[in-house]
Amino acid sequence: MPTYSLITFGCQMNEHDSARMREVLEAAHYLPASAPTTADLVVLNTCSVREKAEHKLRSEVGRLGRLKRRRPGLLIVVAGCVAQQEGERILGTLPQIDLVLGPDNIRELPELLAALEAGGPPRVRTEFDLDSPQFLRARPVPGQTAPTAYVTVMKGCDERCSFCIVPRTRGPERYRPSQEIMAEIAGLVGAGVREVTVLGQTVNSYRDPERLLQPAVSRRPWRHTPEARLREDESEFSALLREIATTNPGLVRLRYMSPHPRHLTWSLIEAHHELKPLARHLHLPVQSGSDRVLRRMVRRHTVAEYEERVGALRGAVPGLTLSTDIIVGFPGETEEDFAETLELVNRIRPTGLFGFKYSPRPHTPALRLGDEIPETEKRARLSRLFALSEQLRQAHLASLVGSTVGVLVEGPGEREGYVGRTERNEIVHFGAVDDPTGQVLQVRVTEAFKNSLAGVLLDPARAAPIARARTTEPRARHDLPVIP
Ligand code: SAH
Ligand code: F3S
Repeated sequence: MPTYSLITFGCQMNEHDSARMREVLEAAHYLPASAPTTADLVVLNTCSVREKAEHKLRSEVGRLGRLKRRRPGLLIVVAGCVAQQEGERILGTLPQIDLVLGPDNIRELPELLAALEAGGPPRVRTEFDLDSPQFLRARPVPGQTAPTAYVTVMKGCDERCSFCIVPRTRGPERYRPSQEIMAEIAGLVGAGVREVTVLGQTVNSYRDPERLLQPAVSRRPWRHTPEARLREDESEFSALLREIATTNPGLVRLRYMSPHPRHLTWSLIEAHHELKPLARHLHLPVQSGSDRVLRRMVRRHTVAEYEERVGALRGAVPGLTLSTDIIVGFPGETEEDFAETLELVNRIRPTGLFGFKYSPRPHTPALRLGDEIPETEKRARLSRLFALSEQLRQAHLASLVGSTVGVLVEGPGEREGYVGRTERNEIVHFGAVDDPTGQVLQVRVTEAFKNSLAGVLLDPARAAPIARARTTEPRARHDLPVIP
């Protein structure tokens, strides 16, 4: 039987798409290869959110092309956002590629591969499923399913932030019927999943296309948000979370990714307060601490609005941890603008920060603003930002030493012991005599590292020592894997 290797670049949405591609390939009798170098088929699931990610793809295709000269039967598929963005053009510049597949065409993979195996020419399939959006459903196998899972509830983005290519590569917003979402989650929980992360590009703009949810009615005014903008927001995301949390007693944790600050409504804050499984952590991208820059980014909120909403959320959920995304060196960002970003970070004290140097992207409105901040300056700003966020994270992790935390065990650590996360998203390493994967255990924190904690199980009968608590820390969210 033919073998495949799948390499994923980029975000959670890509990881989710890769999981679905694996299922589609295995249903079509492809077997996972032991290494990309021995596979009959290599799928590169690409990211185009920054230029660096695209360069990476080109060098991987170059490497695979050399392999293909030795093994002409090797099929190379480029999927994901670069595929969607470049379409036909990619075959012109990278002729080693056999198939260019958009994120909405995953289901067609087996038939497209069959045509190639029969000697057909290279193909491009990058059609958005605008008329009847499809959401591929996970096929969990009881006993072989990880305790955490992603579930997509919407795709595409209507926001049009001026720097961002996602609206072009993922298309306009399309929402998944709530009944379909509920059925997928029930299946996952039945197969042993304990934590679900609900996914979407602007996940909290969710609306049920079949109008089956009871929308929340909370309309308390925001001090900083104009009445008109408030009325515009008809999202039903809190109603969806409520439905998920209350109908799945086996689900111990619920997270979502990535929300847009302007859809962080009062009803969503109330859901955080009331729904026990909803984790006490939120990833809420802010991008900049300067109103002038936010306006040019077309983020459609101000710094004050962001802080007011985060403040309200923290008031409703004491101890909630926050992580965020920030872009440095956006066109026209002055030293004063950047200083405002550092001040904002100091005020909101995120425990996780994903910082990026602005990268001009094709077809985005920000292109006409130029890219005048020199690379050296962008790099310098990014390292100042990282120094601050590192300091904040270390202080936070150190403050937890001596406390007891509830850990949902995700599995064995990379070198020894086990690893899991707290509801506040801290990573915890510990030893155990039996495999506790999928359980929520109480751990006393004994040590804080750069990005994680180590501790001992509170139950002495189950605790085991680990010699070197520090395992390889998980890679950052937007890092890229490399073909060996
Ligand atoms: N809503 C999406 C955002 C996708 S892009 C989500 O699900 O996370 C992820 C992050 O990449 C953004 O929040 C932004 O901080 C960064 N980013 C996007 N476009 C960028 C660009 N052109 N240059 C630098 N960083 C960018
Ligand atoms: Fe991109 Fe802004 Fe949408 S960052 S994904 S255009 S919310």
